[in-house]
Amino acid sequence: MLRRSEEYFREDCGVFIPEEAPGHRDEEYDPWTFELLLRMQRDHFWYRGRHKFLIEAVRSACASPESAGGRRRRLSAVDMGGGCGGWLEYLHMQAPNLFEELALSDSSRRALDLAGPVVGAFAARYHSDLLDLRWQDRWDVVFLLDVIEHIPEHVNVLRQVRQCLRPGGLLFVTTPALQFFWTYNDEFVRHQRRYSRRDFENLAQAADLRLKRCDYFMFFLSPALYVARKWGKPSQLTTEQEIRDHLARTHRIPPRPINALLEGVFSVEAWLSRYVTIPWGTSILGVFEKPRPAVLRDSVTEVPLAHGRVALDPTTSGPTTATTPTII
Ligand SMILES: C[S@@+](CC[C@H](N)C(=O)[O-])C[C@H]1O[C@@H](n2cnc3c(N)ncnc32)[C@H](O)[C@@H]1O
Repeated sequence: MLRRSEEYFREDCGVFIPEEAPGHRDEEYDPWTFELLLRMQRDHFWYRGRHKFLIEAVRSACASPESAGGRRRRLSAVDMGGGCGGWLEYLHMQAPNLFEELALSDSSRRALDLAGPVVGAFAARYHSDLLDLRWQDRWDVVFLLDVIEHIPEHVNVLRQVRQCLRPGGLLFVTTPALQFFWTYNDEFVRHQRRYSRRDFENLAQAADLRLKRCDYFMFFLSPALYVARKWGKPSQLTTEQEIRDHLARTHRIPPRPINALLEGVFSVEAWLSRYVTIPWGTSILGVFEKPRPAVLRDSVTEVPLAHGRVALDPTTSGPTTATTPTII
């Protein structure tokens, strides 16, 4: 039985689907890779490190209802191209009071099915294509984590996401950074490009979004990654099967002590990012904002924050006690 919600119908198993099943590039995301992604999103040091960096950014960009004296409501957020739900699980555990509604969307049905036991109890799952999103002014926060570098029409994706965001809503984007770090691995995993700060500025302009914050991360490990990827290129990988085996080998979770050590390195970097600007890294985070309509914007005050960042607080006409930007 199907139940209708917005432009999606809810299947008995709990997944929301559009009237027409979204296309999914199986040749790029072969179903076996999602078993790998499921484990990696939860346990691999790289994902755990990214999660730590990101949660700092989320906390600093979204004021919690408590810190705003209960004035603002809790937020709704969707992780688009979220795979098997590892980030949402982490977000739900680390910031339980910030969001009242969480959702996962992906074009892979396999990913959404695997995500059921991970996020099914607290997040809706939507089978949707980033190039055909069916929401209008719906979400306060959207996450696009390591997705757009795979999609040729990345500007279209950002325009679609813009439509889905409420005015003043935030979009968190992470991608691989800097063309300098381009290696055979980018080709194997079918990246279209890596991004710089300038690329994010251009994307913001093309999609009519405001780039509020842009930071590189994965700094400490960048030399090691560079050396490993630049000179570790395996010879004679020609068939799909050989490439697949190689990716499975190189994307394995390292032995526990090494995994823990590398995660520790990332924790230090995430903590440091509160105080210093990281000069470069192998990843980049952009926080984009959907501008409010001009008539509303006129009554909004820019409030200076730590690190020279600013918050838009529509409820005051002068400096506030808030230390983090608000989006409502
Ligand atoms: C590299 S994985 C990243 C997964 C997750 N965001 C993370 O970083 O942990 C890319 C994800 O984007 C999804 N994806 C790719 N193209 C998409 C599209 N056009 N619409 C929706 N999801 C898409 C894939 O199915 C996959 O789950």
